[in-house]
Amino acid sequence: MAIREVREIGDDILTKPCKPVPKLTIRTRILINDMLDTMYEKSGVGLAAPQVGILKQIVVIDIGDGPLVLINPEVIETSGTQTGEEACISVPGKYGIVTRPNYVKVRARNEDMEEIEIEGEELLARALCHEIDHLSGKLYVNQTEDGLHDAASEEDE
Ligand code: NI
Repeated sequence: MAIREVREIGDDILTKPCKPVPKLTIRTRILINDMLDTMYEKSGVGLAAPQVGILKQIVVIDIGDGPLVLINPEVIETSGTQTGEEACISVPGKYGIVTRPNYVKVRARNEDMEEIEIEGEELLARALCHEIDHLSGKLYVNQTEDGLHDAASEEDE
């Protein structure tokens, strides 16, 4: 297990689509463990593989209820909306206001490549949308209501 270097906004790899994972190799298992380590190290609630430079459809999420590993995830249902603050480990020191569905259902494979469905509301729905967007090269910074805010200076006020 290891902390991997996090790619930041401006790095082309964050705008590229990711490939599906056909089967789980030792290499992929190591990647998933490293992604979890890196997410916890950076105090994020989620991390997608392209953020550590790997164009594979893998995300990890932990909103405080334990780790969730999603391979080849796709959103299959959404409802409602929520508008709130969103940030990203790849965009350090910033946040923005983004409108997302309030509920999402996601189909994916877990860390044993078993098919699973995850339902999320509120923060989990937001994290699922944000991380799955990374897999098609989308960053929240292009979906904000009024651009990016400086997280540090807001705290100082
Ligand atoms: Ni992100």
